[in-house]
Amino acid sequence: MSANTPRTVTATTDRHNGISADPTGARVHDVAVIAGDGIGREVVPAAIRCLDLAAARHGFGLAWREYDWGSDHYRRHGAMMPPDGLDRLHAHDAIFLGAVGAPDIPDTETLWGLLIPIRRRFSQYVNLRPVRTLPGVPSPVRGADTMDLVIVRENVEGEYSEVGGRIYRGEPAEAAIQEAVFTRTGITRVAAFAAELAAGRRGLVTSVTKSNGIVHTMPFWDEVVEQTLAGRPGVRLEKILVDAMAAKLVLAPTAFDVIVASNLFGDILSDLAGAIAGSIGVAPSANLNPERDHPSMFEPVHGSAPDIAGQGVANPVGQLWAGAMMLDHLGEPAAAADVVAAFEAVLAAGVRTPDLGGTAGTEEFTAAVARHLGEAPAPH
Ligand code: NAD
Ligand code: IPM
Ligand code: MN
Repeated sequence: MSANTPRTVTATTDRHNGISADPTGARVHDVAVIAGDGIGREVVPAAIRCLDLAAARHGFGLAWREYDWGSDHYRRHGAMMPPDGLDRLHAHDAIFLGAVGAPDIPDTETLWGLLIPIRRRFSQYVNLRPVRTLPGVPSPVRGADTMDLVIVRENVEGEYSEVGGRIYRGEPAEAAIQEAVFTRTGITRVAAFAAELAAGRRGLVTSVTKSNGIVHTMPFWDEVVEQTLAGRPGVRLEKILVDAMAAKLVLAPTAFDVIVASNLFGDILSDLAGAIAGSIGVAPSANLNPERDHPSMFEPVHGSAPDIAGQGVANPVGQLWAGAMMLDHLGEPAAAADVVAAFEAVLAAGVRTPDLGGTAGTEEFTAAVARHLGEAPAPH
């Protein structure tokens, strides 16, 4: 799990290090769970089943506190979570999230009522998204067999901004303005995180830009990334325009190590890279507050997938892998490695969900992973 290890973390006495204990003195990590919407409600229970098995094998406990927040909560109460929702989440060691979004409610209400406020209030400014080819999972792209990269996405500013508005609604002169916000602090900290990660890997940071077309923010991004990485031993910086990057990811997916990108570019490239690995259903993500002043949040890259929700066919790998990243973050790297090894073994054995060309449902796949983690077979 070295690819997923946040290297800028410093120990504090704060409980977001995940160090708690039950009355008997055993290690217990206290995790807030928001399954959310759509397939989130299918893959989250699947992942919890497997994470509990890994925890039991490694002698610690996971105390799950489920929050029934999301689109149903919105339909009932007109809000995605209660007014004190963020304060309640803050008390936990980590947050485990499924997905948010429903076809009958505007995404501006759902995502900006739950997911985005969590990322921002808890200063989860690094969105870490490892992508690699998994055993037994064919890539739709030739030559991707040894792809192994990590996207470090800026997660709280950039193109995702609340600055702007709509004028002359409904009139011919109607217009919308949205101002991107890039700060020196914001770019520096995410670039530094990418550099430290790369120093422990293959040493290459690819910074994604669009400074030929976006003439204020992107040249600023380039400058600050360059300044941040200057003089760092063992780290090479290359810069690439996002359009060329989209092509190169497909044509040479093994040419990358750590990719650092703005909020929007990192978002788009992570679905692209996930698809190159076989399906966005396998891609995990960690929303990190590296200073550990606040809880970090772990979720798959994919959304609520309304087109397959309720059918029992969702791929739980992205959620499981996000769970492994969470265990790693909570100081349980051996259990994290076990979870990854278990889903890799199941994939390698040819058990796959339909998004990967297989026929297994979520339950069949999850049961196979659970058996690898020591779950007793169900009696006949
Ligand atoms: P999506 O990621 O939900 O689905 C895109 C495609 O990938 C669909 O065809 C879906 O069936 C497939 N897919 C996704 N995850 C899968 C899995 N685990 N197994 C098998 N197939 C899978 O993206 P979308 O359809 O653009 O968005 C649906 C909703 O989710 C929207 O409301 C969107 O805003 C929201 N969304 C939320 C998050 C999040 O909560 N972090 C992320 C992305 C999208
Ligand atoms: C993701 C999602 C979110 C994002 C959406 C749902 C707001 O696509 O986590 O990748 O763009 O951050
Ligand atoms: Mn996305």
